[in-house]
Amino acid sequence: MKLGQEWYRREEVASRYDQRFTHGGRVLNREEIEKLLELVDTEDKRILDIATGTGRFAEAMEETGGDVVGLDASREMLRPGRAGYLVGDALELPFKDKVFDVTTSMRFLHLLRPRQIPEFLGEVERVTEEKFVFESLNPASLRALYQWYLPQRSYLFRTSYLREIIENLDFVKDLKSDPHFLVPYGAYQVMPHGFAEKVNRIDRKAVEALSPLASTIYWTVQF
Ligand SMILES: C[S@@+](CC[C@H](N)C(=O)[O-])C[C@H]1O[C@@H](n2cnc3c(N)ncnc32)[C@H](O)[C@@H]1O
Repeated sequence: MKLGQEWYRREEVASRYDQRFTHGGRVLNREEIEKLLELVDTEDKRILDIATGTGRFAEAMEETGGDVVGLDASREMLRPGRAGYLVGDALELPFKDKVFDVTTSMRFLHLLRPRQIPEFLGEVERVTEEKFVFESLNPASLRALYQWYLPQRSYLFRTSYLREIIENLDFVKDLKSDPHFLVPYGAYQVMPHGFAEKVNRIDRKAVEALSPLASTIYWTVQF
């Protein structure tokens, strides 16, 4: 069993997953979707969303004109009734070469072991024509304060560490990183909605000045 799969296959975890996007989490969800749509031009694109979970990013990309397939290792996370969603492993993608223009994968990299990163990127590049957008979590951020407390195992990768690994892959033509959220996910999720909106207004400005401490890094890899 690979890291992260077991946890999200639990019925009680999967059925409660979207609760984190209520209250202050609504702000987080909106900001994350906005950020992804800033980085991905979805119109008429064939898009693969890896580790799609309950499909919040896949749905947003579909609504903005993308032709989206959402893949996840947990059948329990996928929401029934949504077309184009399938069960599968990120490290063995069940697709032919270059069938997608763009691949996305949000809140997933931290569930991979460090040694799996080049393998994962290789598999993404095999099925993707243009680019890959994903996010990682920064160990030099407030997230590190509660990382130890979380019940599922995950990895926080330093930006410089990821940059070195990815730039060394011979199929990578360009790489951009974009820091976001000084306040980590877990903190937004426990705030009342109105308070989270206020915090987010400050957060958006503060992260520009304190980018090395951002909790989330958005990456765009050009193939
Ligand atoms: C934190 S959730 C993120 C879900 C969604 N991207 C979001 O941001 O709401 C992580 C997801 O990764 C999925 N996952 C874990 N290991 C996987 C693997 N090897 N292949 C595909 N999906 C995997 C889990 O089932 C879970 O749905």
